Amino acid sequence: MNLEPGLSNFSDVFRPPPQGLFLSFEGVEGSGKSTQITILEQHFKSLGHQVLLLREPGGTAFGEKLRATILGLDDAIDPLSETFVFLASRAQLLKEKILPFLQQPKAVVLLDRYVDSTLVYQGLAQKRPLEMIWALHQFAPLNTLPHATFFLDIDVETSLARQDSRGQAKDYFESRQREFQEQLVQGYRTIARLYSERIHRIDASQNENTVAASLQNVITARGWV
Ligand code: TYD
Repeated sequence: MNLEPGLSNFSDVFRPPPQGLFLSFEGVEGSGKSTQITILEQHFKSLGHQVLLLREPGGTAFGEKLRATILGLDDAIDPLSETFVFLASRAQLLKEKILPFLQQPKAVVLLDRYVDSTLVYQGLAQKRPLEMIWALHQFAPLNTLPHATFFLDIDVETSLARQDSRGQAKDYFESRQREFQEQLVQGYRTIARLYSERIHRIDASQNENTVAASLQNVITARGWV
């Protein structure tokens, strides 16, 4: 498969920030991202790092307004319109929060969802080309890649069961058909294969401590702590 969809100079255009550590976390609803991010935050802090936790969409005043707008929609909008909302939130988050924070010594940004969510939710699950999504990201600050991405992988049954056990009202994406939820699971697995150098797939059906240990092993092995 083409590792650099549509952009022959992918690695010249898309780069991680030169300073600090920028990690993103991906997975379907119920995959345990927020639990793992909190555990990792403590791990980094205990080792003397400065840690900033953020989520997408959101994280800035503007982004939180966009979040409320898109997750509160009753009727589906065009996937390209969805894409622009997420990109607007992302550009502002990078400019206002992520890039300035990473200038500080021993800075770590832990981000709940990033570009791979757009590739999966707006791209693969809704049959929009990945080339288009990458092309829209090629201008600064959107051309910032994370140093690594952790994909917490669960199957669709586990995701639906964990959503039900939370008993919360379903948002714009959670209320979609099971077929869409299956496409998300498969979409993430495809993305993890396509970008296997950046994305670490972790079996998130295991218990919290085992998943946390797997994440920490990768972080130690890559020499980040
Ligand atoms: P959120 O409640 O943060 O989901 P979760 O708790 O599962 O992380 O809601 C964010 C929703 O927005 C989620 O369903 C995924 C979706 N999304 C996209 O479709 N595209 C994107 O680019 C991003 C960042 C999120």
